[in-house]
Amino acid sequence: MRLSSAVVAATAILVASTQAEQLLYRNTFNGTDALAGWVAEGPLNATVSNNTLELRGGGNLDDYFVYWLPEIFPERIRITWEFSPIQEPGLAMFFFGATSVAGGSIFDKGLAARNGSYPQYHSSDIRMLHASYFRRRWPEERAFHVANLRKSPGFHLVAQGADPLPPVVDAKGAFYKVEVVKDKRDVKFSVNGLLLFAWEDTKTDTGPVVREGRIAFRQMQPLIARYRNLEVWRL
Ligand SMILES: *[C@@H]1O[C@H](CO)[C@@H](O)[C@H](O)[C@H]1NC(C)=O
Ligand SMILES: *[C@@H]1O[C@H](CO)[C@@H](O)[C@H](O)[C@H]1NC(C)=O
Ligand SMILES: *[C@@H]1O[C@H](CO)[C@@H](O)[C@H](O)[C@H]1NC(C)=O
Ligand SMILES: *[C@@H]1O[C@H](CO)[C@@H](O)[C@H](O)[C@H]1NC(C)=O
Repeated sequence: MRLSSAVVAATAILVASTQAEQLLYRNTFNGTDALAGWVAEGPLNATVSNNTLELRGGGNLDDYFVYWLPEIFPERIRITWEFSPIQEPGLAMFFFGATSVAGGSIFDKGLAARNGSYPQYHSSDIRMLHASYFRRRWPEERAFHVANLRKSPGFHLVAQGADPLPPVVDAKGAFYKVEVVKDKRDVKFSVNGLLLFAWEDTKTDTGPVVREGRIAFRQMQPLIARYRNLEVWRL
């Protein structure tokens, strides 16, 4: 290869790898309109004030909820938000890349009914990835704090890492920056810049690679948690 073409090729690679991310979605929770179109499954109480979304269960202790954004996001995205646990125990989880198993919308007619109960999401007719990161619902979760990445349908545990989030008493209302990178087959999950787990979907026994789809927050009671500055960037 002549020097000039080598330089051209190297420049092209540099340009491709430094292309700016594109902001697809930003929610600063600056009013109740911020939740327009969001879909609740299971009883929840959502309040917006001071640029903060606060979520808590609105039903019995064993009734959990999922709160979907209306947007469908592409397969190469970076999602960030700030999270603050206000009351524990409980559990916080993030769903991403959600579609029907057939490849359509999770809201397509004919899909099984959902009300926040976990098996309806991990072993039914929708496909997605789900990261649980403030797992404090059950005694065994509180005894050893880990964050889990699972792939549905099938309840496949595909990655796990230590969860650095402190209990409510030590968080003292602080917000922690959560970042999820989903770059086709590659998933990374970080809190305050610390990588909890990374995973590449090269397995064939967990079904097709999760592509574009919806995102959602899920909580298990009696967690009360706050969320700020939700952003989705196209990689
Ligand atoms: C909230 O922020 C959005 C996006 O920046 C803006 O369009 C909207 O007018 C704001 N709403 C209020 C009530 O300030
Ligand atoms: C509102 O949020 C700001 C940070 O954005 C924080 O400094 C302030 O304490 C909050 N106020 C209340 C009343 O929660
Ligand atoms: C939901 O939030 C509103 C406003 O803070 C409050 O009045 C209501 O009692 C809450 N309901 C439940 C079930 O927590
Ligand atoms: C949610 O659905 C499950 C069945 O999948 C049921 O056992 C449970 O009672 C339902 N919860 C609510 C709050 O309706």
